[in-house]
Amino acid sequence: MDTGSHTGHPYQPPTPPVPAWTEVEEFVTLFHAEHPDQPVPLGMRLRQIRERIELTGTYHHTPAELEFGARVAWRNSSRCIGRLYWRSLRVLDRRAATAPAEIYGHLCEHLRLATNGGRIRPVISVFAPDAPRRPAPVVWNSQLIRYAGYQHPDGMIIGDAGHIGFTEAVRRMGWQAPGGWFDMLPWVIQAPGDKPQLFDIPRDLILEVPISHPDLPSITELGLRWHALPVISHMRLSIGGIDYPLAPFNGWYMGTEIGARNLVDPDRYDLLPFVAELLGLDTSSEETMWRDRALVELNVAVLHSFRAAGVKITDHHTESRRFLTHLAREESEGRIVPADWSWIVPPVSGGITPVFHRYYDEADQRPNFYLDDLARARATGRCPVDH
Ligand code: ARG
Repeated sequence: MDTGSHTGHPYQPPTPPVPAWTEVEEFVTLFHAEHPDQPVPLGMRLRQIRERIELTGTYHHTPAELEFGARVAWRNSSRCIGRLYWRSLRVLDRRAATAPAEIYGHLCEHLRLATNGGRIRPVISVFAPDAPRRPAPVVWNSQLIRYAGYQHPDGMIIGDAGHIGFTEAVRRMGWQAPGGWFDMLPWVIQAPGDKPQLFDIPRDLILEVPISHPDLPSITELGLRWHALPVISHMRLSIGGIDYPLAPFNGWYMGTEIGARNLVDPDRYDLLPFVAELLGLDTSSEETMWRDRALVELNVAVLHSFRAAGVKITDHHTESRRFLTHLAREESEGRIVPADWSWIVPPVSGGITPVFHRYYDEADQRPNFYLDDLARARATGRCPVDH
């Protein structure tokens, strides 16, 4: 792979294969089974699609199929604990947008609609799919809102260590890095056959929450912050044999994602040693449980801060219960709920949440979201620009 500087080779992905008929059939049949009152009956719709594929090598989803497909992709996401609300996903059909500037406008609109002044709404923007002679546009960022990370020559790390590679990539493309702890990374938008282009996100579209603790001022004084909206932007949405490589989607945060992972993982902000020191905890031995105590206070601070700022967030106890409600509801409708135990169980207090005490079905059901190697490479700054 070319890890060198951005050379500006046009992005020319391989021609996508013709949609697999079994996937087409499975999806359209599912759609009709769950929405029986269609103007075009199932058999006729399948014949229509088969003709389109024979003629053009692909087919188009109707707006209703697209909406259903995106919602079911969420419903089938085995790592997501928040699926109870899958029916409420707002689906923005952006398939007509192809120029980077136009895509940029739609991404801005996504942030505006989803943030909704703190009353976060689950939203997905679906851009053009891969098609013969018309590959899809992509965004390199793993999420629409992420903080930069910098490694200094002496080894010192500033910002989000998880994004050092991506930050270096956008600097090579000309991004002027402020060098701070919470710098908003720009978007890299790439249309097929074109060079990747940088776009700064308008500041007023990004809602952030300053992290404070209800009764430990030293945590407040750390000056931490986090963004309100997690928008995953590098996963491919797969519906009925059609691939949508650019389909950014968001829900709202569960506190532990920030308080037990983003601010805590050794390869992210790695803050537990600082928090422990500020709290005056005895770090001389693991048995004092200084890590656990610091971790709990950090999570208290995250939930408290979002609530105080009027930004929607959820805690892992409530969300675990909701997930089991979701499971029961889905099963009563005769559906399997694929789930990955190691992702569903929260990273703190696992055993005192009900999702811990059982096993789950691990089926890979489509529609779904997938992370491809090339997308991962782009998002970590290991991107071959000429692929
Ligand atoms: N864990 C990721 C993050 O902290 C976000 C994943 C999606 N989370 C969600 N609540 N929808 O940035």
